[in-house]
Formats: sequence, structure tokens, C-alpha cells
Amino acid sequence: MSTSESDVQPVPQGQNLDVWDSQSESGDSAYGDLESETASVTSSIMRGHFENGRRYHAFRSGQYMFPDDEQEQDRLDIKYASLSIVMGDKVAFAPVNDPQNILDIGTGTGIWAIDAGEAYPGATITAIDLSPIQPSWVPPNVKFEIDDAEQDWTWEPDRFDLIHMRTMTGCIRNWDRLFEQCYRHTKPGGYIELQEMDYMGVIQPTSQNPGTSFLQWCQQQGEAAGKAGLSLRTSPELLKEFLEKVGFVDITVLEFKLPIGPWPKKKRLRDAGLLQLSSLLEGMEGLSLRLFTFYAGWSLEELKVLLAKVRTELKDKNCHSYWPVYIVYGRKPDTPGHAA
Ligand SMILES: C[S@@+](CC[C@H](N)C(=O)[O-])C[C@H]1O[C@@H](n2cnc3c(N)ncnc32)[C@H](O)[C@@H]1O
Repeated sequence: MSTSESDVQPVPQGQNLDVWDSQSESGDSAYGDLESETASVTSSIMRGHFENGRRYHAFRSGQYMFPDDEQEQDRLDIKYASLSIVMGDKVAFAPVNDPQNILDIGTGTGIWAIDAGEAYPGATITAIDLSPIQPSWVPPNVKFEIDDAEQDWTWEPDRFDLIHMRTMTGCIRNWDRLFEQCYRHTKPGGYIELQEMDYMGVIQPTSQNPGTSFLQWCQQQGEAAGKAGLSLRTSPELLKEFLEKVGFVDITVLEFKLPIGPWPKKKRLRDAGLLQLSSLLEGMEGLSLRLFTFYAGWSLEELKVLLAKVRTELKDKNCHSYWPVYIVYGRKPDTPGHAA
């Protein structure tokens, strides 16, 4: 039976609700199999969906973009290490004071949540993701949940002292709605912190290699994401506007460069660049497979040729490429007005 409008309209208390057809009336003895049905849904989420030899999450059918297999998890963890170096190993920049509840949206392998659990031992860190790829041995104050942040949240309002998101650009379809929920569920006086990367890479003026293929890859990747209804672009202005629109105040913006490759002079940045290069060499194909072959109509061979050129460029020490990284945080006022 398809869902009619009356199925989803709330009915005032005291009035009769429509009687829905039940599964048992359709001849399926579903209740007899409840356990196996639950097990089967759970195991299909745990199993994921396979395409081009890569595994994707099976949470929302057809809406997977980037893999969640071990190769992708390695990419995420190496990228995390490179970003941490650039950010001076700070877990968060927002001046949170003795937080009790922290939420990490799109936790990936859970590495930030685990670090936050250690940095804030008095807090409970709830970390959610579409993919069940988090470790089971974690600090006792960290809990992982498989959940879609774009659905209605069931936590109580005003709960979190800090809501954190890292590198979620390219993942969220409705940012306004997400930030409205973030605002509602942030404690008055609490913070939201976004740690985002713009996926249009930059070749800095000192570069002797123009990075033509790298820039083409970024551009094409962005266009393909657009066809999938997602944007890989972000900026401090955009993030600030998102937060102000829903009611956050005192927005602070910090900007960093994340080098790709060991081209910077400073040892610390060279290390960050090496790690970032390694994460890209590991993960570039996973980032592109679905976008290029499904949304942009490229053949696998065409994609492999482009990626080979990008790898050669990024490995050239004369190619001075980097990703722009933005930290944007804002506070929910002590006496908040809720955005309309
Ligand atoms: C690029 S990864 C970033 C992971 C982690 N924040 C980090 O920086 O290492 C994006 C993560 O967000 C998750 N994700 C995407 N959309 C989501 C949603 N609507 N709700 C929850 N998680 C989501 C993906 O499954 C993926 O693990």
C-alpha cells in the first residue's frame, strides 16, 4: 500500500486515527518472523552494498556516494591525522566549559569522538553515522549510534554542550534543516563547531607544476556531485551564514591550509602534507568511482586515466597543492530565540 497524505498528517488528540491495513491481513505471517526480519534488516545494514568492488552503506537505498570499506576507513584515519597536525592537535576550538553532552555528526571511524572522549572525560560523547564502521573498544564515555542526521532527531531539545561536524561537506542534502535541528538541540550557552574542507583544491603561486589534472579532477568531481544533489564547495561565508540564519551568535572563523604532498618547508606541515597525500592516493578512487561513473557518465577506464595523471602531479614535489580548511564555531545564546 502506498503512503497517502492522511497516513502522515498528525491527528488532534481525541479524534479517531485511520485504521491502517496490517501486514498480517495481506497474507504474510510477518509477526511469526519478526526476529528473523529484524536480523535481516540489521544484517543488510551491517553488510552494506557492493559496487565496482567497493562497499557502500546500505542505510538509504541508492543514496550512497562514498564507500565505507576498509580502504575508505584508512583514508579517513590518515586524513584525520593530517588535519590534526595542521590544527595543532586541538579537538575543538570552541571555548566549551565542562561539557556534559557532546554530539559528533557523521563520525566515520569515530576517531574524533574517541579523542573528544579523552579530552572531555566528564562528558558523554554521542557519535552517529550511516555506516557501522566504528570500533567496539572505546572509552566508556563514547557511544556510537547508526543514525541519519537528516532525519528528525529524537534527543531532547537543549541537550548538547557541543555539536561537532568534521568534513561533512558533500554529504548533506539539506543543510538548513540540519542546522535548525542542531540549534534546537544545543544547550543555551553551548556551541556548534564545523571543521570543513573545500574540495576545490588550490595550487599556490610558488608551484612550478600547474596541477592541471588535479584541478580538473576537483572540478569534475564537483560537477558530478551537483548532479547527485550535493555540493563539494564550502566557504567561511557560507558556513557563517548557515549558523547565523538559525540563531547562533558570536561566530568565529579560523582558516588553515592542508598541504597535499611534502612540499612545505616546515617539518610539521611537511608531515601533514605527506599524510594527506597518502590518504588521497589511498582514497581518490573511492571518492570518485560512484560520482564519475554513475552521475557523470564516465567509463571506468576514463576515470582511471585521469586519476593516474592526478597521482603523478600530486607526487611531484614541485606541485604545491593544498585544501582550504575552515573552522567555524558559534554559540547558542543563553536566552535563545528559536529561528522561524
Ligand atoms: C567524509 S566522512 C567524515 C568522517 C569523520 N567526521 C572524519 O572527519 O573523519 C563523512 C561521514 O559522514 C557520514 N554521513 C554522511 N551523511 C550522513 C548522515 N545524513 N547522517 C549521519 N552520518 C552521515 C558518512 O557515512 C561518513 O562516515
